[in-house]
Amino acid sequence: MGRLLIFEGIDGSGKSTQIQMLSDFLKSKNQKVLVTREPGGSKFGENCRKLFLNEKLDGLTEAFLAFASRNEHILQKIKPALKVGYWVLCDRFSDSTIAYQGYGRGVDIDFLQKVASEMEKQLSDIKIIYIHTNLEICLQRIRKREVKDEKFDNASRIFYERIMNGYSKIAIKRGDSFVQVDGNHKTDEVFSNILQKVPELAQFKCDD
Ligand code: TYD
Repeated sequence: MGRLLIFEGIDGSGKSTQIQMLSDFLKSKNQKVLVTREPGGSKFGENCRKLFLNEKLDGLTEAFLAFASRNEHILQKIKPALKVGYWVLCDRFSDSTIAYQGYGRGVDIDFLQKVASEMEKQLSDIKIIYIHTNLEICLQRIRKREVKDEKFDNASRIFYERIMNGYSKIAIKRGDSFVQVDGNHKTDEVFSNILQKVPELAQFKCDD
């Protein structure tokens, strides 16, 4: 059985860089790796992603799109990959829906949590790696990004503050399955912190 590692954090937190670094690292240790993302991950999910990012939608509609995308992602990609021993590195999952649509856009959090838990029952074990990066740094990175047409990149500071606050509440609820990593350092330092802190990766940490 493989392992599912989910990366979470606000836009510009450095998540995607760390996912790529971990993927390269695991491959260098002869591990099978699937890098995937949400919304997206399956053909259906990628179609949901286009709607999700390009249409102006109500928060509840966004949540339903994210959930629809996630369920097919679990069934079509994640479970089959885990079954044959892959490390599945997933860019965002349930906690993004709770943080962004719940804490960010005001959709009922208990409702979102219920649907998210129902969906997670299909997975035996998940680990969330939350990259916690200072809001100022994230905002600077968001402003520098070339592609500016994705709607969340223009969202206000207050919106991101609500999301960050949401993640800290989620952290308490999730307990040990939620590993927080300080994202305010150089990428190499953040990466070695991930190796130190994530128990699933302990087997690789000393043999460099
Ligand atoms: P993406 O370009 O993947 O952002 P990033 O690289 O920063 O993760 O765009 C995904 C956006 O969708 C991001 O702003 C977070 C948002 N999102 C939600 O609002 N709810 C969700 O359930 C998910 C999975 C993502």
